Amino acid sequence: MTAIKTLLLTAIVLCLGFVAFIYSGTYPVGADAPHTAFTNWALETLRDQSIERASKDIQAPTLDDPELLIKGGPDYHEMCSGCHLKPGKDESDFTVGLYPAPPDLTERTGDPRRQFWAIKHGIKASGMPAWGPTHDDQRIWAMVAFLQKLPELTPQQYQILTARDEEAPGHHH
Ligand code: HEC
Repeated sequence: MTAIKTLLLTAIVLCLGFVAFIYSGTYPVGADAPHTAFTNWALETLRDQSIERASKDIQAPTLDDPELLIKGGPDYHEMCSGCHLKPGKDESDFTVGLYPAPPDLTERTGDPRRQFWAIKHGIKASGMPAWGPTHDDQRIWAMVAFLQKLPELTPQQYQILTARDEEAPGHHH
């Protein structure tokens, strides 16, 4: 047999083996059973490279605008803090039970373009929803502005910045 034929045959056997593995039902999908180190590496690398590529041309507005912070705070508190926590809270049912676990966004912030992209589009096969279909870009940038400051906030500052101004008209969402 020529080398080419051996190679082809090996490739076919590997493909069939992989399909058989998928049908076998032996890979655990329960959120309480961690991935193997290889699957973990593959999924995390896939996610990071994909977000990097998709977000590289995004132009961030000026984020240290107090108006944006005030707008982003209440949204973060209502829509995100259950999963991504807040100052003074370091665990929730979601951080314990979701796999992959939502990162604690009070610990450190990240690149604004990547954050914007992740919030707008969500992350497949994780608990992270896409907020783009229901929220415009301005509202998402306001949350990014808030995330940039979040790790520095004390519980009191957090409470002040996330309180919704009840006087303001149209504070529904
Ligand atoms: C139901 C839980 C849940 C909610 C609610 C949620 N997220 Fe997430 N979020 C996740 C999970 C899980 C990940 C990690 C996904 C992964 O690693 O594949 C994530 C990832 C992220 C990331 C990427 C973090 C990084 O840099 O690696 C950002 C930014 C983020 N979320 C912001 C938000 C914001 C802002 C909101 C509210 C509008 C929000 N999330 C609401 C679960 C949630």
